[in-house]
Amino acid sequence: MAAGGFLLALLVLSCLAASSNGVTFSSLQKTLIVTASPTQGQVLKAGEDQITVTWSYNNTFATGTDSTYKTIKVKLCYAPISQVDRAWRKTVDNLAKDKSCQFNIVAKPYSPSNNTSTWTVERDIPTATYFVRAYAFDSAGEYVGYGQSTDAHKTTNLFEIQAISGRHVSIDIASICFSAFSVLSLFAFFFMEKRKGKASQQK
Ligand SMILES: *[C@@H]1O[C@H](CO)[C@@H](O)[C@H](O)[C@H]1NC(C)=O
Ligand SMILES: *[C@@H]1O[C@H](CO)[C@@H](O)[C@H](O)[C@H]1NC(C)=O
Ligand SMILES: *[C@@H]1O[C@H](CO)[C@@H](O)[C@H](O)[C@H]1NC(C)=O
Repeated sequence: MAAGGFLLALLVLSCLAASSNGVTFSSLQKTLIVTASPTQGQVLKAGEDQITVTWSYNNTFATGTDSTYKTIKVKLCYAPISQVDRAWRKTVDNLAKDKSCQFNIVAKPYSPSNNTSTWTVERDIPTATYFVRAYAFDSAGEYVGYGQSTDAHKTTNLFEIQAISGRHVSIDIASICFSAFSVLSLFAFFFMEKRKGKASQQK
């Protein structure tokens, strides 16, 4: 039993360690000005309505330029208003583990003159309140800046998306770590059962 528990703890730790080498959101500078077309409180229909996103470098930003920016990725993010009962929607500081912005809208080369994109809300987007965030990446694929369509507290310019079927989100939670954890728990269970079997044979 103790060995099984230890094994499980070890596997969980190695799973966490494998996904924890990433950039933190709090270390990232908000260098981009991002706007999205939905107005505050607008309700969009999945599979039908469109979102137009525009991004540009904030030229009054005190330090740096966008000369290292190579790629832009725009994501649809859950807003705090929909975090009630759903703590996993909160932003995780380690961006490699963050699931609050799990829907990709646009990924394209960063170019100041080509800084807008229109996206039809995909059919499988769950009903929730959202905002849009853009991340800039350098040539090594590292995060180098971001911007979002809402304020720092995620209270302004929030919009809603209504799923086609009233589909809700629980299915989306399953992360690699979560499923790995289930498989490993199963192994640990068999391991312990085997030991129990051996122990009773010896009696
Ligand atoms: C641009 O950056 C400056 C300095 O960080 C900030 O005060 C200002 O609010 C930013 N502008 C926008 C539109 O985000
Ligand atoms: C981004 O697009 C807008 C509207 O098309 C344009 O006015 C603006 O100059 C562009 N941003 C940059 C940094 O060129
Ligand atoms: C803007 O980017 C899109 C997608 O990357 C590309 O298809 C399009 O030709 C670009 N437009 C201009 C004017 O460069």
